Amino acid sequence: MMKQEDRNDGISRRGFLKRAGLLGAALCVNPVLEKATAAERVLTGQGQVVRDIPAGMAAVRELRTLGNGTAAFRVSAMGFGCMGLNHHRSSSPDEAACIRLVREAIERGVTLFDTAESYGYHKNEILTGKALKGYTDRVFVSSKFGHKFVNGVQVKTEEDSTPANIRRVCENSLRNLGVETLGIFYQHRSDPNTPIEVVAETCAELMKEGKILHWGMCEVNTDTIRRAHRVCPVKAIQSEYHFMHRTVEENGVLAACEELGIGFVPYSPLNRGFLTGAINEYTRFDTTNDNRQTLPRFQPEAIRANTRIVEVLNAFGRTRGITAAQVALAWLMNKRAFIVPIPGTTKLSHLEENLRACDIRFTAEEMTEIENAVAAIPVVGSRYDALQESKIQK
Ligand SMILES: NC(=O)c1ccc[n+]([C@@H]2O[C@H](COP(=O)([O-])OP(=O)(O)OC[C@H]3O[C@@H](n4cnc5c(N)ncnc54)[C@H](OP(=O)(O)O)[C@@H]3O)[C@@H](O)[C@H]2O)c1
Repeated sequence: MMKQEDRNDGISRRGFLKRAGLLGAALCVNPVLEKATAAERVLTGQGQVVRDIPAGMAAVRELRTLGNGTAAFRVSAMGFGCMGLNHHRSSSPDEAACIRLVREAIERGVTLFDTAESYGYHKNEILTGKALKGYTDRVFVSSKFGHKFVNGVQVKTEEDSTPANIRRVCENSLRNLGVETLGIFYQHRSDPNTPIEVVAETCAELMKEGKILHWGMCEVNTDTIRRAHRVCPVKAIQSEYHFMHRTVEENGVLAACEELGIGFVPYSPLNRGFLTGAINEYTRFDTTNDNRQTLPRFQPEAIRANTRIVEVLNAFGRTRGITAAQVALAWLMNKRAFIVPIPGTTKLSHLEENLRACDIRFTAEEMTEIENAVAAIPVVGSRYDALQESKIQK
């Protein structure tokens, strides 16, 4: 049954989105960073003007285009990662505060929100759904499938991208999030037992059924991207990318995205908070709700050594009046016009700080300067443990 909030002049949201995708494609000439057409206004991905944003307010006022061709996807130049609102980032504010924060992000122009089935097995999707209730006609929400769960417990040694599981997750995500269509449905990790062509075919069917608008994959290699893209155009690759993890530059993934016209969504763009300077060797992570304590890079010795990288960002930012977090996010956004980072936070002050990075432009010389300065410092500790790393396509 159609929800009132999702109706648009008698057109169902799903039908509207299908048509909007085609219209968006027609309007989109170039996958480049574009200023909103009217100053101080933000457009949704559907090309509608939503509202004015007061001058001076920390906000994202630009759209970026993920993908190209007949179904380019226009979203705010920075998205919002919802995971840490209640999963894997230690304790967090109560539900009402999280909802208020997400709505602040919406008011400040964010149109892309990111969650996954596996973030607390529906817990994060349900919270995200509550936060987006009443706003789903102006924002998009992405979720992810592919981890294997038995009775709500993740089987960490296996993945499950069988068509039946993709469909099961999709129905759950739609219900949890209170939407009829997911913005992007990502494969969370590749499943060695299910060919990517089968996954792409299943996503193509879900698109035809109007249950997902676009699809993407996380942490896959260029071979998989090309094979998948041939079956059903991939809208975005979501993989880890930040100053301390630049693999996508080296393994050809970023170049393949550029060549094929696929968007890139860097996850953990602040390296799980580390690049902001908010974490030091004495930081204690919640033993029941924070995966950082399991990561080699977040052990005290690694933190101590890697703090030199944060100091480089601080030094670079100091002469420009910007923070380390802003240097990290602005660097990503200046790197390519088809990059849309999705930092997460539980705090309005951090949201404001992060959104202001959207206004920062670096020259080519500045990009080289900061890259060289960071590259001169070896990163200590691997980003994942051996099991997690084994799930990453090389
Ligand atoms: N596809 C995948 O496999 C995958 C994996 C991991 C994450 N993700 C996605 O990526 C999103 C973001 O990732 P993430 O949460 O791992 O990492 P992140 O965005 O790099 O960092 C989030 C952490 O940084 C802190 N933070 C944010 N802005 C800050 C600021 N300006 N100053 C100081 N601290 C700041 C947050 O704490 P406060 O609450 O204190 O601000 C939080 O602990 C997730 O929500 C999820 O949607 C995807």
